[in-house]
Amino acid sequence: MTTGIATTSTSSSPLAEVPVEGQRKVRRWGIIITLGSFLFGYDTGVVSGALLFIRRDFGLNALEQGSVVSVLLLGAIVGALATGRVADRIGRRKTLFGLAVVFVIGIAVAALATGYGMLLVGRIVMGLGVGGVSAIVPTYLSEISPPQIRGRVLTLNQLLITVGLLVSYLVDLAFSGAQNWRAMFAVGAIPAIALALCCARLPESPAWLITNGRTARAKAMIESVVDAPTADAYVEGFQRQEAQRRRERAPEEKQGLRVLLAPRVRAALVVGLTLAAIQQFGGINTIMYYAPTIMGETGLSASNSIVYSVFIGVINLAMTVVSLRLIDRVGRRPLLLASLAGMLVTVALLGLSFVVPLGPVVTLVFMLLYIMSFAIGMGPVFWVLLGEIFPPRERAEGVGAGSMVNWLSNFVVSLAFLPVVTAIGQGQTFWVFAVICAVGLWFVARYVPETRNRRFDQVNADLQTRWTGRARGTAPQPA
Ligand code: GLC
Repeated sequence: MTTGIATTSTSSSPLAEVPVEGQRKVRRWGIIITLGSFLFGYDTGVVSGALLFIRRDFGLNALEQGSVVSVLLLGAIVGALATGRVADRIGRRKTLFGLAVVFVIGIAVAALATGYGMLLVGRIVMGLGVGGVSAIVPTYLSEISPPQIRGRVLTLNQLLITVGLLVSYLVDLAFSGAQNWRAMFAVGAIPAIALALCCARLPESPAWLITNGRTARAKAMIESVVDAPTADAYVEGFQRQEAQRRRERAPEEKQGLRVLLAPRVRAALVVGLTLAAIQQFGGINTIMYYAPTIMGETGLSASNSIVYSVFIGVINLAMTVVSLRLIDRVGRRPLLLASLAGMLVTVALLGLSFVVPLGPVVTLVFMLLYIMSFAIGMGPVFWVLLGEIFPPRERAEGVGAGSMVNWLSNFVVSLAFLPVVTAIGQGQTFWVFAVICAVGLWFVARYVPETRNRRFDQVNADLQTRWTGRARGTAPQPA
């Protein structure tokens, strides 16, 4: 049993190289799929600059402005939750196509909005798309990738999210002269239409095909990436795991989110949901969404506040590229541990720079070091692991639940940030984030399995050992 496409090996021997042509093919598919991730980044980032002009055109008060930002997060919670089930029913490819259409509709409604209400509707529909892709992309990427290159392929998700964020800041900057917020939104329709058109070039996920009895098609897809004996081993391993799963299941088949409560899925669920919450409660989006406001506090102001966002976007993207290069070499756990340790120290110092005051330049430096620490691990690796820790049958629902908790946490932190700062102070609020990073560090060290170069059965064995102290649920290996 594998998380993605396996190549022939026993559980202990290293996996054979994937042919170069196969690697290229998977990368091409990965780029199409992660047009969805680009839209995630673009549509969450674009509002920061657009808001400056929407505020003026529609005469919005502070609460109304906040709602234009946060209704997208509400839409995303619903989109993430619903998408797992849809993807199990109609397949990964049709789901992604459907989401591209949702994006086009949401963007059109927002860009053409004649008033505040219509704008909110557009933002909610965009949110459904954002939540949807955050749930489907890790699943889909994981299922088309051989384990040897799965980390790199899955990191494309966060890479394209950060590219989307950066491009949205640049587009905001480009249209800020003309004060044209409608154009800022509308540009997002280009990747959405490209995604809809390119979906036809994607293969359906072999894991989904086999689960739905279309083994021959799955085998043909796998053989286009790896050699025939490897493809056979994958399909046989999958079928063996399916038979075992049927034996273990309660007499009546559980459906929907309830499948996640089965004992053999529980450890993966706890790891996925906890990491989802820690990623957000570590405070990242307070910087991503409020950097100009925070820097304003220090007295250092850029002539155009969007410039800070562009700067942060560049650093975020650059460190994500570094993570992409490292992930299949050093593994997921070392990156996560280094990242959380870095975030802990830098966010604590960031807090100190406000309490003592150490001056605006020092604050800016700590802020950038914090973003770098996040981008090397916690940003990309959370989304990678989410796609890797669930058993294939429960994967789409599991990734959906993890994404949902991520969006819910994002919503809570974004909403609470400014009131909490008012109540306990800017520096002290950052110290709360530091405490959460410390908890995250302990949790990762204790419970998070290594998934590098491992098939799903091997990942699962590690997960169970960490969780219960003994290995269970390991199926015989495909030879
Ligand atoms: C991750 C987070 C997202 C954040 C982004 C910043 O994808 O899930 O909330 O905005 O990183 O790079």
